[in-house]
Amino acid sequence: MVCPPGLEEVVAAELATLGVRRTRTEKGGVTCRLTTRQLYAANMFLRCATRVLVRAATFTVRTFADLQRRLGEVDWSEWLDGTTRPAFRVTTRRSMLWHDAAVAERFEAALPGHAVDGPEQLIVVRAVKDRFVVSIDSSGAPLHQRGWRLDQAKAPLRESVAAGLLVASGWDPTTSFVDPMCGSGTIAIEAAMMAAGRAPGAGRSFRFQDWSGFQPGTWASVTTEASTSVTGAPAIVAADRDAGAVESAQSNAERAGVAEMIQFRQAPISALEPFPSDDAPGHMVTNPPWGGRVSPGGDLRNLYATLGRVGNEKLPGWGLGLLVADRDLARQVRPGLTESLHLELGGRRAWLLTGRFA
Ligand SMILES: C[S@@+](CC[C@H](N)C(=O)[O-])C[C@H]1O[C@@H](n2cnc3c(N)ncnc32)[C@H](O)[C@@H]1O
Repeated sequence: MVCPPGLEEVVAAELATLGVRRTRTEKGGVTCRLTTRQLYAANMFLRCATRVLVRAATFTVRTFADLQRRLGEVDWSEWLDGTTRPAFRVTTRRSMLWHDAAVAERFEAALPGHAVDGPEQLIVVRAVKDRFVVSIDSSGAPLHQRGWRLDQAKAPLRESVAAGLLVASGWDPTTSFVDPMCGSGTIAIEAAMMAAGRAPGAGRSFRFQDWSGFQPGTWASVTTEASTSVTGAPAIVAADRDAGAVESAQSNAERAGVAEMIQFRQAPISALEPFPSDDAPGHMVTNPPWGGRVSPGGDLRNLYATLGRVGNEKLPGWGLGLLVADRDLARQVRPGLTESLHLELGGRRAWLLTGRFA
């Protein structure tokens, strides 16, 4: 399982709900054993993973002749039947065979015939200290590309990261939710999908469906499970001061089929409305501007302090998940928040800080 660095534990917990135990964790990935059904289900149900790779071969080689010999021994027929177009992603570290492009060439030559214009079949090759691990991608388009996020406001989050923030901040999907700085709406839309019990992979296709060993009956039973939905949706609010952002959030939600579950508001954080008083405390998960990409030189201290003040006033007792790049700045919202996730997003370090409004 490949995932954004920092979400490994969240993905391992998601796997556990599919009845799968991980065998290993490394930065940006979780390793486990899967049955065919679990492989299909992982693609369909994991909200926080990027792709599911299947290990095809492992071997230690130090020469191209040995590499060619080992590649000739692998039975590729379960995955490659000549209708797809293999594409190689090779990374080598501290290995005798260090020339990634030359390694990819040997793979290309060794694999069975392939279609020039067929769908791309990604093959991931990693070598560390001469130990090669060859994996076949079962997902196709990355799993975070759910197909609905075509409108982007500034600095959008990946859908998988938004889902990870919701899970790691401890939001109970039966309770109210607000993102007061929603941008293109990614967090609120993922919240609505979770509240509705909608599988993130519903309605899309996956690369494993092109494999010669594809099992249509097993896949049909997974897709049937994905179409069960939950009733009694909680209140979900997505707000932003920027009219364009709210518009893009709304169009994205419509494409995702959850627009009716979300109230959209164009409002600054200072005008955050309280939720109905009979509502049990809900959750706010938000990704305020970090400076740099979104608000160069803006007065972020003020914005963060306002978020804290308004949250305490209007949403006392509510849970909070705050994605920030500057933990000092986050103290303006509330001191003593817990560091629940440490992520790397777009080359920047970021933290999910969690807590509760007073
Ligand atoms: C980093 S972006 C959020 C991106 C979003 N999570 C997504 O995936 O698209 C921060 C958002 O905060 C909004 N914002 C900045 N200051 C605000 C304020 N005072 N009140 C409400 N929204 C504000 C910006 O318009 C921007 O859309």
